[in-house]
Amino acid sequence: MKQFISVKDVMDVNALVKKALDYKASPFIDKALGANKRIGLLFLNPSLRTRLSTQVASQNLGMEPIVFNVDKEGWALEFTEGAIMNGTTVEHVKDAAPILGNYFDILCIRTFPSLQNREDDYSENIINSFIKFAGIPVVSLESATLHPLQSLTDIITISESIAQHNNLKNKKPKVVLTWAPHIKPIPQCVANSFSQWMNAWGEADFVITHPEGYELSAEYTNGAKITHNQEEALKDADFVYVKNWSSFSEYGKVLNTDANWMLTNSKLETSNNAKVMHCLPVRRNVELSDEILDGENSLVTKEASNRVWAAQAVLSEILGSINK
Ligand code: CP
Repeated sequence: MKQFISVKDVMDVNALVKKALDYKASPFIDKALGANKRIGLLFLNPSLRTRLSTQVASQNLGMEPIVFNVDKEGWALEFTEGAIMNGTTVEHVKDAAPILGNYFDILCIRTFPSLQNREDDYSENIINSFIKFAGIPVVSLESATLHPLQSLTDIITISESIAQHNNLKNKKPKVVLTWAPHIKPIPQCVANSFSQWMNAWGEADFVITHPEGYELSAEYTNGAKITHNQEEALKDADFVYVKNWSSFSEYGKVLNTDANWMLTNSKLETSNNAKVMHCLPVRRNVELSDEILDGENSLVTKEASNRVWAAQAVLSEILGSINK
């Protein structure tokens, strides 16, 4: 694997899931793989899980992770080609990224969308600039449109749960991505990415439900069943993935805050005793009720814990290509 930006960088999703679960069983088995390798983790936006799980995964592989909070500690970066830099930006990515490429063997980047300009955000100019100018493998820690480490984790968590509970009677699991209310505009990244990975994985009956106006980019959802009827979507569901996102068509806008879209236990009565997932952080009793988050069908803590094994599997694949 030369980079990890989306599911398109993965040859075989199930093989990567197996690798992650093997690391979960034996975390230090490849401690020598990353010896004398440095990994840089650049954060242009906040993070708890992604930051810490990637550091743990790097150390499990024997690498030395160095974290840099660009948003708080770095020079303000410019990403526009040909910019006349007489404003607030201090350093162009084409000057900064090659230096990072010399300091590190792998570069990981977290950057959010502006949610102001859809064309800019969906061009993925920030992460693509690092790929272009750093000259080393780049791993997305969430970009303007996608969150691939989260989505890999989600498939690991679903696969693990199926193996442990096996209550599906040899049918494909029904996995439902349901929109949830939120008080402010949230990126589409997690929902886009989950849709892209579910469609590429192909081992689930995948349904997306959201209010009108919250259609995601067809680039990621093509292949999924999409309905505005949440009740219909939840019927017979085995896994329910809860996530808010802002509008793609009326870009970055909050069109609906209808609290009736928040998942509760009574809504799950027609499901197949569905397990509930969320990538976290979550606004309790806005996006998702306490009774679900604190209930026995919640997978959220397990899901967040599995972030380590997803990151470790991906970094291991990248180290494998560097060490060749
Ligand atoms: N799910 C997730 O990406 O969490 P953080 O924002 O805390 O990294």
